[in-house]
Amino acid sequence: MDSSVAVVARLRGAALRYGTAADVLSDVDLTIAAGSFQFLIGPSGAGKTSLLRLLGLAHRPSAGSVVLFGRDVAALSTEQRDRLRRRIGFIYQDLRLIDELSVLDNAALPLRLAGVEDAKATGHARMLLAWLGLGELVEVSPSRLSMGQRQLVAAARAVVCRPGLLLADEPTSYLDPDLAARLMRLFRELTKVGTGVLLATHSRELVARHPAPVLRIAAGRLAPPVAAKPMAA
Ligand SMILES: Nc1ncnc2c1ncn2[C@@H]1O[C@H](COP(=O)(O)OP(=O)(O)O)[C@@H](O)[C@H]1O
Ligand SMILES: [Mg+2]
Repeated sequence: MDSSVAVVARLRGAALRYGTAADVLSDVDLTIAAGSFQFLIGPSGAGKTSLLRLLGLAHRPSAGSVVLFGRDVAALSTEQRDRLRRRIGFIYQDLRLIDELSVLDNAALPLRLAGVEDAKATGHARMLLAWLGLGELVEVSPSRLSMGQRQLVAAARAVVCRPGLLLADEPTSYLDPDLAARLMRLFRELTKVGTGVLLATHSRELVARHPAPVLRIAAGRLAPPVAAKPMAA
């Protein structure tokens, strides 16, 4: 193994099924290096969200292994899983903001849960929200915002702790291309401080505008990496 590149997540032969139904993910091999950025693309129902959930410790694999930050997750206690989960940022496809809290409190929540002192937590969240163009909206409820604005709040909450692994599930689906580009810039900045990013999308336009390695999933299986072009004879 190349020890010069830290690996934040590795799946080997991983499968996932919900209840007793058939596998929705089969035989998935995947490595996410620290500081890397990869797209995960595939049609609706292909298993993108399920794969992110598996990486985000929402489910245990029904076969194979999931190793996060060097720990095999099968062997972890509940407390150890919770601790590991705090190193993961997740942008949910359905956002999951808390309407009873202000935009600022939503974004600052992970820092508060991590025990960061209040002024520091809100100061950091405020800066991030301002950078995302939401500086005037920090005191309102997310229910007052457009879907695009809500998506930015969900992104702010996911990155506010500088996670080691960021799992972004269709994070630009409500954003126009300019705002999507701004969010992509934020993700690039995170990779510079070591975050491994996996971004699920079905937007060909996003991938075309932001060249990066692409993992393709169909019917719960990752396609083998595209072979390099054959050398000219
Ligand atoms: N909670 C669940 N219970 C049962 N089946 C599910 C659940 N979530 C997703 N599925 C099924 O798993 C498959 C993959 O879904 P999903 O991971 O959401 O795909 P994608 O994100 O690519 O659209 C689909 O067939 C879907 O119906
Ligand atoms: Mg999905």
